Amino acid sequence: MIDPKDLSARFPGDFLFGVATAAFQIEGASKADGRKPSIWDAFSNMPGRVHNRDNGDIACDHYNRLEADLDLIQSMGVKAYRFSIAWPRILPDGTGPINEKGLDFYDRLVDGCKARGIQTFATLYHWDLPLTLMGDGGWTARSTAYAFQRYARIVMERLGDRLDSVATFNEPWCSVWLSHLYGIHAPGERNMEAALAALHHTNLAHGLGVEAIRDAAPSVPVGLVLNAHSIFPGSDGPADRAAMLRAFDFHNGVFFDPVFKGHYPPAFMEALGTQMPEIAEGDLATINRPLDWWGLNYYTPMRVADDPSEGAVFPATVAAPPVEESRTDIGWEICPSALRSLVEELYARYDLPDLYITENGAAYNMGIEDGAVDDQPRLDYYARHLSVCADLVGEGYPLRGYFAWSLMDNFEWAEGYRMRFGLVHVDYETQVRTIKKSGLWYGALAGRFPHGNHKAG
Ligand code: FCB
Repeated sequence: MIDPKDLSARFPGDFLFGVATAAFQIEGASKADGRKPSIWDAFSNMPGRVHNRDNGDIACDHYNRLEADLDLIQSMGVKAYRFSIAWPRILPDGTGPINEKGLDFYDRLVDGCKARGIQTFATLYHWDLPLTLMGDGGWTARSTAYAFQRYARIVMERLGDRLDSVATFNEPWCSVWLSHLYGIHAPGERNMEAALAALHHTNLAHGLGVEAIRDAAPSVPVGLVLNAHSIFPGSDGPADRAAMLRAFDFHNGVFFDPVFKGHYPPAFMEALGTQMPEIAEGDLATINRPLDWWGLNYYTPMRVADDPSEGAVFPATVAAPPVEESRTDIGWEICPSALRSLVEELYARYDLPDLYITENGAAYNMGIEDGAVDDQPRLDYYARHLSVCADLVGEGYPLRGYFAWSLMDNFEWAEGYRMRFGLVHVDYETQVRTIKKSGLWYGALAGRFPHGNHKAG
């Protein structure tokens, strides 16, 4: 087992170790204090969408257990907390009247972190779109981007004096492709034109959001959290290599290129441009605003092969088999070296600012035995990926911090509560929290920071 002390010596003394969560996955209290439904409330209440028809009504009841949960983070020795803000608490209809009680909750959250010496990394959009906005088409409607801009401004006017960092979006890949093309996440659409509309309007909302944040709270560092895919060809043959490049454009380039280069990938536009929604003059300049940082969420690599079938739609790929034998309980291949090559590739392709690993972690579903959770495989997953992070820091990449996904077991979207990603076990019957073996280990590492003169050692 990697000793936290040895691992800690490979990071600079000001490296930030945090834990991450998202509003819909932990808060519960779905009807409290003026909150109205989001698309995830509607989706999870529909048969056949979420495993076991689980929903977010109670989740980890974090809304009612805020202070105790912040005590838990502090007791683990963790110095930063990445959480998301629920748009339907702040603006229950997406537009229209502000719900002060919703803002009050995040006020208490931010102040509670400050009082405990925990830095706050807020994410404005982690997938809980106010359901009312679906009446206009949700993310397929351009108006949603402007609604997001107003929401971003309202949040930053209230919290901007105390936040340490803010991100506009979490994983637009999921809220665009997984939600509008593959139908796995809310709103469950399977339609290329809808997905392309959601793509451009999400990118536009990001840019408009950055403008509003900079205006309302100029001193808060602004970023964007992307689940960039580490993509490998299924073989060394030219067809699979070409497939890999198309997949890069489709899964990564459509987000990275507009944000960091100011245009969509040419091959993507060649294939699908005629189905894109209107790209108004000035949109790409809005999207291409410089950022203070970006976040990478990494779990597993993507392997693709060429799809030779006639009429195959861009990126015209099929899944290629995993290479590593080990998988987590959710079935995801474990491959720490793919994190390293991904960061190398992205910094080679783009001019990127400071980086935080904003999510990394593993699903293992073992429960409590004799009062403890022995989740050695999760501990090993963290140790191996953190070792890669230490290598990247050593190579000079501007990696400033790491957030474990997740603080505690929670509502894992379409998987419901059956997939557990927590450093802390949650008993959903009693809401009792139990720090797992991995959580104790991670806390021992995090607790050594910050230290010294900000040099490794
Ligand atoms: C990411 C999500 C996060 C969590 C992990 C396991 O895609 O951002 O909310 O569900 O996966």
